[in-house]
Amino acid sequence: MDWHSSCIYKHAFCLWLAIMVAHRTRDKLLLLGIVDSALCPFNCGENESTEHLFFACPFTQQIWMQILNMCNVKRQIAPWSDEIQWMIDHSRGNKFPQTLRKLAFAATIYHVWMERNRRCFKNNFLNPDHIIHKIQGHVAAKLWSQKNPMVQAGEHYLSLGCNWGLFG
Ligand SMILES: *[C@@H]1O[C@H](CO)[C@@H](O)[C@H](O)[C@H]1NC(C)=O
Ligand SMILES: [Zn+2]
Repeated sequence: MDWHSSCIYKHAFCLWLAIMVAHRTRDKLLLLGIVDSALCPFNCGENESTEHLFFACPFTQQIWMQILNMCNVKRQIAPWSDEIQWMIDHSRGNKFPQTLRKLAFAATIYHVWMERNRRCFKNNFLNPDHIIHKIQGHVAAKLWSQKNPMVQAGEHYLSLGCNWGLFG
């Protein structure tokens, strides 16, 4: 996967950490004695781990489900390692739907992790619609900034373009 050429760098880096299960999630911090509880900051009652955040948690799952819908992908959410595998299998090449999936995946991981940090460190909360809006905005901006705008991809991708607000 050419994540680096097609993704916003900080999104790609955050995604890479998630794939490596290298984020400092609360289950790890608890083991290190840095926090007193591993409870998920999205108040679902479960403990936070990479697998939980991406996307077993009901809060983050509804966001990813909505983003997949916006990518015209209809399927159940799978455990984290299967989500990664699905992306590898379904985002090869540079066609518009594949590029969009890659960008949307990385942006979702990034914004979920940012919201998690906001809740842990700033006691500040965004709702799912607001987070989805941020993901959409970053993905659309990235698509607009490309040399051969995917936006001209034609009628075939009209519904995807509408979902992501690419037509103004
Ligand atoms: C969360 O982790 C704590 C400490 O390991 C454990 O005692 C508790 O049962 C866990 N809670 C859930 C919901 O799994
Ligand atoms: Zn949760």
